[in-house]
Amino acid sequence: MSTSIILGIETSCDDTSLCLLKSSDQAEILAFESFSQELLLKEWGGVVPEIASRYHNEKMIPLLEIVLKKANITLEQIDLIAVTTLPGLLGPLLTGLNLAKTLSLLLEKPIYPVNHLKAHLEAIHLTEKVSYPYLGLLVSGGHSLFSIVYSPSKFEVIGSTTDDAAGEAFDKGGKLLGLGYPAGKIIDDLAKNGNENSYSFPIGLHHSNDANLSYSGIKTSLRVFIEKHPELKGNEQMMNDVCASYQKAIVEALVLKSEFAFQLAKEKTQQSLPLVVGGGVACNSYLRKRLQAKYKESFFVAPKYCTDNGAMVANLAHLDQENILPFPLCLNIDAQSRWINKAEFVHE
Ligand code: KG4
Ligand code: ZN
Repeated sequence: MSTSIILGIETSCDDTSLCLLKSSDQAEILAFESFSQELLLKEWGGVVPEIASRYHNEKMIPLLEIVLKKANITLEQIDLIAVTTLPGLLGPLLTGLNLAKTLSLLLEKPIYPVNHLKAHLEAIHLTEKVSYPYLGLLVSGGHSLFSIVYSPSKFEVIGSTTDDAAGEAFDKGGKLLGLGYPAGKIIDDLAKNGNENSYSFPIGLHHSNDANLSYSGIKTSLRVFIEKHPELKGNEQMMNDVCASYQKAIVEALVLKSEFAFQLAKEKTQQSLPLVVGGGVACNSYLRKRLQAKYKESFFVAPKYCTDNGAMVANLAHLDQENILPFPLCLNIDAQSRWINKAEFVHE
């Protein structure tokens, strides 16, 4: 395989992230820089697409200069531009796509349009050796789904959330508890000093015999709990216990539904598949502990590649070179906020 330099651009939500990757038989990360808008967006209590877009526009070029300098390469040495085009917030996606098209025009180089969800799961290959097919569990702020990953370009969704994502359950719960945004890591940390059996929170779609998830009920039940327990305010131990119990319910749903997903995948592929977990919530220590205890062959994307990042974007282009769009055809690529027509389940 010949060597090429891939620039990865990720701007689908509130992280501006660029990566330069050297692609040959293996992927080698040359430089990787991110700017998280978390602190800036805290005052808004979450992501405001228009504001996130402005920050992307502000940060992309300085980040590009940094990765070029760190990798010690020139712009002209870039062979391929990989950019997240779906799914995500339309404004933020367009900022990254505009940069990709500008560079494509300037350098006359092709673009690889990246499906953000596939990139999250396929990031596993940056640190682990996992063969296809595998059962993927993607848990992030915007998505929660089980899929069979047959190749870098083909994956089949076999279960997904019917409402909120697991990360949203953490973030919205954290907001109700006054913990700030995003709350996943904060709840994870507080839960370490709490007792997960102190309180009981509901597990969505507990009785449905499928791999679907639901997280809308749990935050309503947390709201009711907070109203009933004014003594929670200022009570550190009780807050730790609530966080541990709330986190347990979120994770319990994933563990329970992983059994159905595992079974469904076995019926479809006639084999027991290894489990790969990716997306921001894959950083959760309790989720890792529970799934590792349950599945002998479970692999977790490395924390630095779990939350939105340019490395996973460049990596998907490295893995899926067949689907690169040549220049100038690539200038017609568009961004899409949604990925699927839910009726359409196999994606190639
Ligand atoms: O993958 P990601 O960066 O964004 C999306 O594509 O949505 O994931 C962000 C999500 C947030 O909801 C955040 O609270 C959650 O990942 N998260 C965590 C942890 N670290 C990040 N959730 C639970 N435990 C963590 N340690
Ligand atoms: Zn993501």
